Amino acid sequence: MRLVPLHPDFGVRIDGVSIADGVDAPTFDAVREAFERHSVVLMRDQTLDDEALVAFSQRFGALEPVHTTLANEKRVDYIARIGNVDRDGVQLRSDHPRVRYLRGNEMWHSDSSFRETPALASLLLAHEVPAEEGATEFVSTRAAYARLPESMRAELDPLVVIHDFVYSRSKVGPGVVTDDHAAMLPPVRHRLVRENPVTGERAYYVGSHARDIEGYDEARGRALIADLMARATRPEHVYRHRWRPGDLVIWDNRAVLHRGQGFDPDRYRRKLHRTTVAGLGPTLTVG
Ligand code: OGA
Ligand code: MN
Repeated sequence: MRLVPLHPDFGVRIDGVSIADGVDAPTFDAVREAFERHSVVLMRDQTLDDEALVAFSQRFGALEPVHTTLANEKRVDYIARIGNVDRDGVQLRSDHPRVRYLRGNEMWHSDSSFRETPALASLLLAHEVPAEEGATEFVSTRAAYARLPESMRAELDPLVVIHDFVYSRSKVGPGVVTDDHAAMLPPVRHRLVRENPVTGERAYYVGSHARDIEGYDEARGRALIADLMARATRPEHVYRHRWRPGDLVIWDNRAVLHRGQGFDPDRYRRKLHRTTVAGLGPTLTVG
């Protein structure tokens, strides 16, 4: 097993591990350690069906059911289908509601930050990817926090941020969230600054779902959120992942933001499967 950095701030590629061949406990511990320290882990050439992806993901913790499937189809599924290929392998075009809905992923965000217990990790596996376009970009809000002046860190540390799914999806356009779906996901309160329990490093917790800062009026809160986003996402801080089939990227939603670059769904097929590992509890109680 060999670790190769992806970006000076964060991220590592792990070579020499084939998940399909079985990952023993010491090897898994090393992957988990890399996840805690480096926030993004890339493992290439992984051939995994949904069952194997779910089984590997569960070693990180309990999985979140996909909230769109739960809200709209009333059933539990652990695989989020990312891209424009449906279950039957049919390419969906730009005017398809699912394709429109998924454009929300093109804003910088942290997965499930709108849940009271938000996501710890996401595991995204590429099945089919366009030859160009369709990259996914990552930045570290841990590195961004470390770059802040001391006075600003002191201002942020005690703050509470409101994350709201209906607010963020309203930026995509009207009618992308059904009433049932909205009712399931009321706004939630989170610590703005979160500390990694293993390394002690702090990161700030913003992204497209972050709506307001508690105790600040709307203009002041939104200005602070926008400033934190801008500081984190300057081009030199971005790791852009250009997908190959078989790439598995695991990221720490406590410490990075990500976004899809976008692609032309009328021209290209793009199919990735994602699992989402739940955190241990609300950020205000468990951190
Ligand atoms: C995700 C996501 C971006 C992309 O799967 O959580 O935001 O590039 N994906 O598809
Ligand atoms: Mn996402």
